Amino acid sequence: MSPEPAELFERVETHAQIAAVVSLAREIWKHHYVPLIGAAQVDYMLERYQSPAAIERQIRDEGYEYYVARGTAYLAIVPNHPRPGVAHLNKIYVHPAKQREGWGRAVMALAEQRCRDLACGELWLTVNKRNTGSIAFYERLGFRKTGALVTDIGEGYVMDDWRMAKTL
Ligand SMILES: CC(C)(COP(=O)(O)OP(=O)(O)OC[C@H]1O[C@@H](n2cnc3c(N)ncnc32)[C@H](O)[C@@H]1OP(=O)(O)O)[C@@H](O)C(=O)NCCC(=O)NCCS
Repeated sequence: MSPEPAELFERVETHAQIAAVVSLAREIWKHHYVPLIGAAQVDYMLERYQSPAAIERQIRDEGYEYYVARGTAYLAIVPNHPRPGVAHLNKIYVHPAKQREGWGRAVMALAEQRCRDLACGELWLTVNKRNTGSIAFYERLGFRKTGALVTDIGEGYVMDDWRMAKTL
């Protein structure tokens, strides 16, 4: 049976829910990104973007909405960013033990429904150019490459990404 997004995902608001995201992020990112970008950059990015304080600030001050299915998957979207009517899919992660079971599709369905509810007609994201499996996933779900982006994230690290988008 396919996972049903609305029933399985909690909107992240409390410290306990943030802790559930932090723990999933550490596990998934180390597993997935160390071979792609190395342990030092992964540790730097986890601290900068997925620490409890960083997530709390993103939710409180930066318009992020996080959703989590504890121990399995999480999502962050930023509606109306960088302009009204478009939404940034900022994070989408499924635990390695649960990948290829339909969870990614379920998380994306939740993101797309949330966008429609907020009258956002485009969902966009960035993905590391070497993250080929995830690029294939996005293309399978109807996203298309719309450009290349190189972003300096400090400490000598850069993100070398594709921008991808889907019209809803
Ligand atoms: C990318 C990710 C979110 C996909 O989630 P998932 O639960 O494995 O994907 P699903 O099982 O829902 O797959 C949905 C569709 O995408 C396809 N797909 C998923 N991963 C794929 C891959 N690595 N290569 C090719 N196709 C893939 C599936 O075959 C499926 O197609 P189908 O339903 O038509 O058969 C997940 O693998 C993940 O978290 N990866 C590591 C972290 C990451 O890179 N996140 C994105 C950061 S930009």
